[in-house]
Amino acid sequence: MFCGVDFGTTNSSVAVSNGERVRILEIDPANDNPTLLPSLLYIARNGERIVGRAAADVYIERNVNREIELKQVDLGISIESYVAAEPDKSRDYRPAETDDDAPREAVRARAMIDPNEPGRLFQSLKSSLRHRTFHGTEAFGEHYQVEELTAMILRRAKEAADAVAGKPVDTAVFGRPVRFSEDAEEDAVAERRLRVAAQIAGFKDVVFFYEPVAACVEYAIGAERRQRLMVVDIGGGTCDVCVMEFGGAHGPAARLAESRILGVAGVPVAGDAIDKEIIRAKLFPCFGSRSRYGPSMLPLPQFLFNTIADWQNLYRLNTEENINWLIASEMSSDQPRAVRALRCLIRNNYGYPVAREVELAKKRLSTQLETDIEIRHKDIQIGERLERAEFAHIIEHMLERMLASIEEAEKTAQTQPQEIDYVLTTGGTCLIPAVREMLDARYGSARLLQRETFTSVATGLAIVARYV
Ligand SMILES: Nc1ncnc2c1ncn2[C@@H]1O[C@H](COP(=O)(O)OP(=O)(O)OP(=O)(O)O)[C@@H](O)[C@H]1O
Ligand SMILES: [Mg+2]
Repeated sequence: MFCGVDFGTTNSSVAVSNGERVRILEIDPANDNPTLLPSLLYIARNGERIVGRAAADVYIERNVNREIELKQVDLGISIESYVAAEPDKSRDYRPAETDDDAPREAVRARAMIDPNEPGRLFQSLKSSLRHRTFHGTEAFGEHYQVEELTAMILRRAKEAADAVAGKPVDTAVFGRPVRFSEDAEEDAVAERRLRVAAQIAGFKDVVFFYEPVAACVEYAIGAERRQRLMVVDIGGGTCDVCVMEFGGAHGPAARLAESRILGVAGVPVAGDAIDKEIIRAKLFPCFGSRSRYGPSMLPLPQFLFNTIADWQNLYRLNTEENINWLIASEMSSDQPRAVRALRCLIRNNYGYPVAREVELAKKRLSTQLETDIEIRHKDIQIGERLERAEFAHIIEHMLERMLASIEEAEKTAQTQPQEIDYVLTTGGTCLIPAVREMLDARYGSARLLQRETFTSVATGLAIVARYV
């Protein structure tokens, strides 16, 4: 049996093939679409680990809407010796503030902790694979390397493959984006980490294959005529493009052997970044980004808002100092309700539901011309209308970067748009009308072929697995 694993930023899927037929496996019974495993991990205080849709449900049930009290604890060690001994962990600790002339011994390691936190949710782990300085994180006294966290999600794919094979599946073809990062070194770090994660999950031999090329194989393995194809795969974390020549030879093996990659390109700009951009444009003002406070009518500090878009770190703002400061600024604010909403957001750790609602609104705009972003929770009373045209405007600069990738792939392939036979689209973000319009304008709708949005990459990887 041959196995292909698509570890996605948002969704993961696994496909197996017996050499003739490809089957997408059901890996998350709790999800609306059981063939997709949301790439989410929840680690509870007692060490329990939950992956997929259930991870999000449990996080919301146990963690959201909880009054958080952050405590500063002295770790009882000097920051220098600590950092020297275990550099990986230093990111989670901050030294106490001291002035530069103070004796160095005074620098003690302190951590802000949330002593009642029931559990932590990890999202978009694939995007953190590339961050050289992010090695992992501390959760409830245990250190987890990012590879281990990733492996916890991949293990579900492994178990599903083992179950259908009736024995351990040792070899798998894993997808990888064309560019995990625009920085070559970061890109190499990410691939290395994903390999280690796959091995921790139990796959002994791991072969990597470009995700958009896999989507191309899925389409072209049956093509009797040789064609010049472009694949545009835009998911949660990356926009990947490839130009290929495929098909025409006799039989799948020969077709694959004679296929040619003419050009690839990619940028780490996709669904996650789009969600953050909507939050920035539509919700920052609802939380007071344009408000002024105090006698000099100053704006609120920007870092408060950047953390709203980064909900996983929102809890860090929940210090007594910040909350008291927000109470004081609300009193002198020209928009007290907005500042109160911000305090409620931070106090109730409500960032994840906000991010979820924004993502849902974005998805609704793929079929509707307008929608309301509705967030109602205690002092947060937001009802923001978002129209499709305004949404397209908000993400215009991102579409430009995607288009630049497409142009780059064409350029390396020395191909003009009119020489492309078909443009295959896949990945959830390709469902956005503005993305389709961008492709339409360049290639014309007759040449756009929408492939299976969430599973064409895994299918292609399982096909390829037979031949590598
Ligand atoms: N109907 C829709 N309209 C707009 N966006 C959508 C829609 N459905 C899903 N998305 C977005 O698509 C993204 C997920 O797509 P997909 O599952 O293809 O990504 P992925 O494979 O996990 O990520 P990547 O390939 O970048 O690692 C998310 O950002 C999601 O919000
Ligand atoms: Mg993908």
